[in-house]
Amino acid sequence: MSTHLELRGNVAVITLDNPPVNGLSHDTRAGIVDAVDRALADVAVDAIVLTGGARLFSGGADIREFNTPRALAEPTLHTVIRIVEGATKPVVAAIGGSCVGGGLELALACHFRVAARSASVALPEVRLGLLPGAGGTQRLPRAIGVEAALNMILSGANVPAAQFEGSALFDAIVDGDIVEGACAFAARAAAERRPLKRLRDVRVDYPNAEGYFQFARNTVATVAKNLPAPAKCIDAVAGAVAKPFEEGLRQERELFRQLLITPESRALRHAFFAERAASKIPGIAAGTPTRDVRAVGVVGAGTMGTGIAIAFMSAGLPVTVLETTPAALDKGAAAIRRHFEGAKAKGRLTPEQADRALTLLRPTQRYADIGDADLVVEAVFEEMDVKEQVFRALDEAVKPGAILATNTSTLDVNRIAAATRRPRDVLGLHFFSPANVMKLLEVVRGAKTADDVLTTAMAVAKKIRKTAVVSGVCDGFIGNRMIEHYLRQAMFLVDEGASPQQVDRALEKFGMAMGPFRMSDLTGNDVGWRIRKRRYVERPQMAWSRLADRLCEQGRFGQKSGAGWYRYESGRRDALADPAVDALIDAYRRETGRAPRKIGDDEIVERCVLALVNEGARVLEEGIAARASDIDLVYLTGYGFPLHRGGPMLYADMLGLYNVVRSLRRIAGNPHADPAFWAPAPLLARLAAEGKAFND
Ligand SMILES: NC(=O)c1ccc[n+]([C@@H]2O[C@H](COP(=O)([O-])OP(=O)(O)OC[C@H]3O[C@@H](n4cnc5c(N)ncnc54)[C@H](O)[C@@H]3O)[C@@H](O)[C@H]2O)c1
Repeated sequence: MSTHLELRGNVAVITLDNPPVNGLSHDTRAGIVDAVDRALADVAVDAIVLTGGARLFSGGADIREFNTPRALAEPTLHTVIRIVEGATKPVVAAIGGSCVGGGLELALACHFRVAARSASVALPEVRLGLLPGAGGTQRLPRAIGVEAALNMILSGANVPAAQFEGSALFDAIVDGDIVEGACAFAARAAAERRPLKRLRDVRVDYPNAEGYFQFARNTVATVAKNLPAPAKCIDAVAGAVAKPFEEGLRQERELFRQLLITPESRALRHAFFAERAASKIPGIAAGTPTRDVRAVGVVGAGTMGTGIAIAFMSAGLPVTVLETTPAALDKGAAAIRRHFEGAKAKGRLTPEQADRALTLLRPTQRYADIGDADLVVEAVFEEMDVKEQVFRALDEAVKPGAILATNTSTLDVNRIAAATRRPRDVLGLHFFSPANVMKLLEVVRGAKTADDVLTTAMAVAKKIRKTAVVSGVCDGFIGNRMIEHYLRQAMFLVDEGASPQQVDRALEKFGMAMGPFRMSDLTGNDVGWRIRKRRYVERPQMAWSRLADRLCEQGRFGQKSGAGWYRYESGRRDALADPAVDALIDAYRRETGRAPRKIGDDEIVERCVLALVNEGARVLEEGIAARASDIDLVYLTGYGFPLHRGGPMLYADMLGLYNVVRSLRRIAGNPHADPAFWAPAPLLARLAAEGKAFND
């Protein structure tokens, strides 16, 4: 049973017991109804306490039931709420810890609420593109007022219960044992025959409500322009002011139903589940132990090494940073110190936090000093012989059982592992730049990587607050392997007649955080140039525009050189159109005999995004990614793909794979296209033929 009923004097205590978060599963809901009915029928019971225990109340809907018939089976949460609210004996919610979503809606239906001082409340539905659909938008404004309620509903944020002390949300804040406190409160309420308070009976008075709601609508129209849920949240809360309770409730359900079928909500829910799914690694049993990671070594203190060191130090782990020369070591250590000093100056860290983090840094030039590290991350130059040399040295110097990781972007992790006598302890940890900021961490599983090395990497990722996605070994792993094809298309589009500005604008309108040319200017055009030079030799059949090479030959590496696809004024990051680039493009088109044509934004988005999709299908089929949602997560967290579209693979699913295949065939017909690339990946073709989706 996921609920217990126990009698304490004349108070019936109903305790939710559905680990891990007391989700309101069908079982739990049925258990509540059953317990309430029994308590109401028992003449020895004068009052009821509903609780989740000392640690938490309820996390809301049980996500394990999402998309299953059990989610909607009676008793639904609406039914439970009606029964609790209609109870003829006082029902007191005892909120010991977090009280979230449907859990809070259930508590709002109780006649009284008592909370521990450390408890917190939240209505996070908006984060899944929904609104609180079990009365939350109607009862919360009646408890804490319109503005506070709307803030909570629009932000989805956790708010400490103590913040609402004195409001109708809580009748008492308890410092001691929450269940005992609630029982005493309930016994008193029964003894004093206190009238049962039902929030539905409270009138919401809010002068000039329409003006306020209009202001709120304008605000969300700018800050959440791609998401329909915030505006509907406002409509629902407005209903609490303008309509009788039952009518407001009906409207809330209708708005909820409308949101449930929006592509945006589907995308947000997909991203939520993608994040959970990514932590499960195929072939590795749940409960596989992890190794202890208490001390970290970082080899190479350049752009990535310093960011990686900062990420670990921010999580409280001591980091020994190794460099070859005193100059490089000083430069890296200074960059790390600057970061923490800056965070202190800007108030992002307290002086104590920053100073404590700085005590964790140990710069060195000797391998012996990282001998005791539990995890070493290598971030030296992207050259195989340098990497091999470093891993040989690590193999000699670092204690047995330590994990040896490479941050390589393109090199073969298996070959790097083979430089050691312990390839089982080697894997890739591919951070994104800036490594202390970007959420994504690709965890690269080598052919010989041990299971507990992978589980440890996932645990470490969590500790440093990264979103980890496991990738197999291939050139570019999941993310960069796919982005190469997206960037190729962006350049072909310019060859054929679009301007870099138009390509960037079209993709930014689609929702990408940054268009491909602005992005290249930011990361450095020389990086792509180096990769292309390698490609020209390794894969001579792969088509490329040579325009970007021309740009690089002129030293236009992007922001760092003051000019790239755009020009930059010193000290500023605004990308300004540059006639010199237009001239370069004109000359290149003349030279290659291309008459520029007018290209629509739709074509730009279609070609760039479907290039991701087709390569993504290959990545999936080869087992480089374990599931389509892993690819989506990589793109959402590492490449600025719009969250409201759920990632490239979900985007393709929503277009319909049949339609995607048709589009690929049409694009392949373009005389400038690379037909080998556009041939639908076999997995894509098969799923399309079967009427299936990547994310089925
Ligand atoms: N820059 C990025 O955006 C990015 C993103 C992901 C991964 N990476 C990868 O991270 C690695 C480092 O890239 P970066 O951009 O930080 O390069 P970087 O040139 O900024 O830094 C490399 C550092 O390694 C040091 N180094 C070189 N040989 C060494 C050795 N034998 N022992 C110790 N230190 C040594 C250099 O002195 C330099 O400070 C590369 O493998 C790169 O592919 C880079």
